[in-house]
Amino acid sequence: MSNAITLKKLDSGIMLVTIDLPGSKMNLLSESVLIELNDAIDQIESDTSVRGVIIASGKEDNFGAGANVEEIQALQSQPAERIYEAVKKGRAIFARLEKLNSIAAVHGISLGGFTELGLACKYRVATSDDKTQIGVPEIMLGFIPGWGGTVRLPRLIGLANAFPLISTGKQVPAKKAWKLGMVDEVVDREKLLSRAEEILLSGSPRRYKPSMKEAATRSFFDGVGKGLFASLAAKQVYAATRGKMPAPMEALKVCVKAVSGDREAAFEAESQAFARLATTQVSRNLVAIFFAQTESKKMPEGAKPAVKVQTVGVLGAGVMGAGIAQSAAYKGFKVILKDINQEALDKGMAAIGKLFDELVERKKLSRSDADGMLANITPTLHYEEMADCDLVIEAVAEVMKVKKIVRGELDKAIKKPYVFATNTSSLSVGEMAEGHDDGKVKVDPARHPELVVGIHFFNPVHKMPLVEIVRGSTTSAEALACAKAFALKLGKTTVTTNDAPGFVVNRILAPYMLEAIRMAQEGVPMADIEKAAKNFGIKMGPFNLLDEVGLDIAGHVIDTLYGALGERMARPAILEDLDALKLLGRKGGRGFFLYKPDGSRVSVMEGKAFRKKKVYVFNPDVLSAIAKRTGVNKKTEGEIQDRLFLAMVAEAARCMEENVIDDPAQLDLAMIFGTGFPPHVGGVLKWADSTGTKLVCQKLDWLSKVAGANYAPCELLRDKASTNEPFVG
Ligand SMILES: NC(=O)c1ccc[n+]([C@@H]2O[C@H](COP(=O)([O-])OP(=O)(O)OC[C@H]3O[C@@H](n4cnc5c(N)ncnc54)[C@H](O)[C@@H]3O)[C@@H](O)[C@H]2O)c1
Repeated sequence: MSNAITLKKLDSGIMLVTIDLPGSKMNLLSESVLIELNDAIDQIESDTSVRGVIIASGKEDNFGAGANVEEIQALQSQPAERIYEAVKKGRAIFARLEKLNSIAAVHGISLGGFTELGLACKYRVATSDDKTQIGVPEIMLGFIPGWGGTVRLPRLIGLANAFPLISTGKQVPAKKAWKLGMVDEVVDREKLLSRAEEILLSGSPRRYKPSMKEAATRSFFDGVGKGLFASLAAKQVYAATRGKMPAPMEALKVCVKAVSGDREAAFEAESQAFARLATTQVSRNLVAIFFAQTESKKMPEGAKPAVKVQTVGVLGAGVMGAGIAQSAAYKGFKVILKDINQEALDKGMAAIGKLFDELVERKKLSRSDADGMLANITPTLHYEEMADCDLVIEAVAEVMKVKKIVRGELDKAIKKPYVFATNTSSLSVGEMAEGHDDGKVKVDPARHPELVVGIHFFNPVHKMPLVEIVRGSTTSAEALACAKAFALKLGKTTVTTNDAPGFVVNRILAPYMLEAIRMAQEGVPMADIEKAAKNFGIKMGPFNLLDEVGLDIAGHVIDTLYGALGERMARPAILEDLDALKLLGRKGGRGFFLYKPDGSRVSVMEGKAFRKKKVYVFNPDVLSAIAKRTGVNKKTEGEIQDRLFLAMVAEAARCMEENVIDDPAQLDLAMIFGTGFPPHVGGVLKWADSTGTKLVCQKLDWLSKVAGANYAPCELLRDKASTNEPFVG
């Protein structure tokens, strides 16, 4: 028994059921909590004087985070029939709750099973607090809501409103949930319980009144337009998942069934679909990623952050510096942004202003909040203004000497201990703590070498979810904890790496881009390469990605990796021809693709009448440069995918061998969040595991003979292959 539920009968005859899972910050609906809930319903049913039931949370800021994923993971190794029985049990408890005069009083996040619990209540009231966010994110774990949510939600708010929430797992704030009809009333926090009691007694919540148009749209899509909705949604799901994720399609089928009349049949379909989906490898992979992400939030060695960060300094107001400053200000930090050049500073501040304007346009921020955040960034040309900084992130030119100089200047300007973080993509973090003396310039070693750390953001900072935290040779656990805590506050997923060229993400991504270019140089049509990569499930094809990164930046990263890692990172010869074309990628309007002035890719519609498809146009100059070197050399999709993704596996294995990162699951997390590597395969190493390390090694040996020595498997991979041992397990 988890002792999570307490019952208190109020004077009005309403039973207040409070869920407060002991020893956990978050409420979770584990099996034992469900059993307690069932017992509570027994007790309520046996007391005929109970006039209604409020389900509330005893937690400060969450109604509940959903089912206990550890229990789901344990179930995943069991046969689908066993999962079906388990999920049906939970569904039966919710069905009992449904018969009571009940209300869910929601404050803070309500996810998954807790949202389903609320849906099983007669009413739902939520607080207007920003922390209140409601959603059903099960799809991210590869299954669907299994305790009736996939049926109750579309029946409550309509197919066209419910399916997008279920198929994306998106959370909505209370006000939006009210407008959708998911909650019956939104109240101030202090009124939550009193208003819940009133609603139960009066039976009249203040519901949102949909407009005529909203009501008509809903009744169309729940009625005669159901089929149309289903076919459009299926197309969209296919385009987004390339058929690799079974859960959204299954969700669609259950949602359509739910609004089609036979409620019990829909519940049954939901339980069966849940059991089927939870046993798939895709779901197992997604659940493993969930745990890797949970693991990634832990502080190194349980260390406390070296300093409490209130004021953040950013050196360099360029692409990265401006992005970092904006992200920090957005999360409430005071920021001092320094550059050596007024023009660069103005440009950086203008870029930051634009990002805030976009947030206002997208209604993520009020104008006054955005103005306040912008005003919290002080642009300066002087180090003196940085004296109060607790953490300084440098994003100046990628030159060791320059970085050491700015670190030395800061050491003079900031008298108290502060964390110095570098955003370098490729230079040694440990070396940055050392001094410098070339006869002309002298820099003292860092005053606090233990406080020098790497915080590697990705471009564009406001969009990219990953940050690599880099442990330099002198970095203390406390500095690492400080860097990590800061990145987590910015809402990033962090992965800790050791101090090695390209860290993890750029190092493993480089072979993907290089192999694409090498194949193009061999005459494999670029369109085939791009398509094969997308069909594998990666977010961006290699040429699209190269254009996004910027061909200058990509070239710089590759050159640095070549310097550090040798021949396998060498520039393909075709790049010499392309250099003459002075392509920059999207930012310059021309790269492997062509771009319109608004930055979108130039495309044409191809195909017959009703089957027209958008096709992006490759840059004809690139095509003719390649054609001058070679003829067409077609390869199958599988061959292309092996070239692209086995090159990544070979490099990932080397990263493990060289201890660039300690945990293979964290490497996979980095590649998924840092590069859009398909989550359904679980990451680069997990994909190798599923293929079998033995087969991977055989393929790499073959590729090293026919496609280049860069494919040669490292010793660690050979060891694993000898017994077909997995990396991640
Ligand atoms: N651009 C990317 O995609 C990317 C991604 C991750 C990391 N990085 C790294 O971030 C750093 C900055 O890259 P960027 O793309 O923002 O460069 P950038 O050229 O856009 O900006 C650098 C800025 O630093 C300023 N600067 C130069 N010397 C300075 C000094 N001594 N003091 C203060 N400001 C100074 C310049 O005036 C310029 O405004 C580099 O180390 C780069 O490797 C870049």
